[in-house]
Amino acid sequence: MMEQYKGADFGELSPHVFAIADVAYREMINEGKNNSILVSGESGAGKTETTKMLMRYLAHLGGRSGVEGRTVEQQVLESNPVLEAFGNAKTVRNNNSSRFGKFVEIQFDKTGRISGAAIRTYLLERSRVCQINTPERNYHCFYFLCAAPPEDTQRYKLADARSFHYLNQSSCIEVEGINDAEEYLATRRAMDIVGINEEEQEAIFRVVAAVLHIGNINFAKGKEVDSSVIQDDNSRFHLNTASELLECDCNNLEKALITREIVTPEEIITRTLDPESALASRDALAKTIYSRLFDWIVEKINVSIGQDPNSKQLIGVLDIYGFESFKINSFEQLCINYTNEKLQQHFNQHVFKMEQEEYTREEINWSYIEFVDNQDVLDLIERWIDCASG
Ligand SMILES: Nc1ncnc2c1ncn2[C@@H]1O[C@H](COP(=O)(O)OP(=O)(O)OP(=O)(O)O)[C@@H](O)[C@H]1O
Ligand SMILES: [Mg+2]
Repeated sequence: MMEQYKGADFGELSPHVFAIADVAYREMINEGKNNSILVSGESGAGKTETTKMLMRYLAHLGGRSGVEGRTVEQQVLESNPVLEAFGNAKTVRNNNSSRFGKFVEIQFDKTGRISGAAIRTYLLERSRVCQINTPERNYHCFYFLCAAPPEDTQRYKLADARSFHYLNQSSCIEVEGINDAEEYLATRRAMDIVGINEEEQEAIFRVVAAVLHIGNINFAKGKEVDSSVIQDDNSRFHLNTASELLECDCNNLEKALITREIVTPEEIITRTLDPESALASRDALAKTIYSRLFDWIVEKINVSIGQDPNSKQLIGVLDIYGFESFKINSFEQLCINYTNEKLQQHFNQHVFKMEQEEYTREEINWSYIEFVDNQDVLDLIERWIDCASG
C-alpha cells in the first residue's frame, strides 16, 4: 500500500491516510512548506491507530532503508508503545483510549531524511490515577507491572492487581485482547529502543509501584480533634514500602500525609488533618507523582531522540483524546470536548467558511454545504475562562 501511494497524485487513488501523508511530504520537499496533520474523530474512532500509520508512512519515505536498531525513525515509532503504556487506559468507549494529547513534530534534513523529532504532550488526565469506575481501568502500566515476572513484582513488593485500591475500585482488571504480562516485556523493549536505560527503567517502575502502595495507605481518627494516624499494620506496610521505593524517609512521608503546612509572613504553621483530608492529600500526592513521572518520560524520550537544530522542514502530527460523553461527565470531559470543538472549528473555518466564501467570490456554481457552527458555544466557554482568570 505504501508503495502504491508513494508519489501518486492526490485524488488519483482511493482516499487513504497514506495519500494525506504523501501530499504533506511532497509539499514540504517541493515547496519548502511545513505541514501539520490533524487527526480528528470521537473517542474510539481510530485517531491513535491512524497517527501511527501516518508516522510509519513518513518513516518509510524519510527513513534509511535496511538500517536496523536505534535510528531516529525507529525511536519515533517506538515512542508510541511507551507513551501508550503510561498515558492510555481502557474506557467505556475504547480499550486503548488516549488520556492525553500529543503533538509529534518530525524534522527532516535538506535531502528529505528524518533527522530529529520532538514530542509535546498535553493535559494528562490526572484524576484517573486515584479514581476509576467499572468497566474502566487505570493506566495500562499499573496492570502491566502487576503481571510482570515474579522477580520484578517481588522487587516492588507487588501482589495481585486486585489488592490495590487504585485498581480494585473497578471490577475490570483484565481486558480482552490485552496480555498485560506480554505488554510489560514489550514496554521494556520499547524503552530500550527509545534510549531509556535499565537503571532508568527500574526507577520508573519503582515510582509506578510506589503510587499503588500509596493508594493503600489508610487513616484513622487520631486522639486530638481533626487529626489522623496511620490506620493499621497493613497501611504501615504500604507506607514503608512506598517510602523505600521512593527513597525517602518514611517518617517524613507520614508527616506529609497527615499534616498540612501553612506559610504565613510571620511563621510556618503546621496543622493536623482529619482522616478525610489526609486521604485527599494522599491522592493528591499520587496524582502529582504520576503526572510528573509521565512528563519525565516524555522529556527523556525527547532528549534521547534529539532535535535537529539545522532542520528547516517539518511535519507535525496531532493526536488528541476524542470527544466523549459519559453518564457522569466531569471537568476532564469539559477540557477534552472543548479542545475537540475548538479544532473542529478550525476545520470548519478552513474547509467550509473560507473555501465557500471563495467560491461565492469567484461566482462558481456550488451548492452551499450546511454545517452546525458552534462558535457561540466556544465564545461562551472562552469568555467564562477570561472572567475566571481575572
Ligand atoms: N485502522 C484500523 N484497523 C483496525 N482496527 C482499528 C483501526 N483503527 C482503530 N482500530 C480499533 O479501534 C480501537 C480504537 O482506536 P484508537 O485507539 O486509535 O481510537 P482513538 O480515536 O485514538 O480514541 P481515543 O480518543 O479514545 O484515544 C483500536 O484499539 C483498534 O482496536
Ligand atoms: Mg487515541
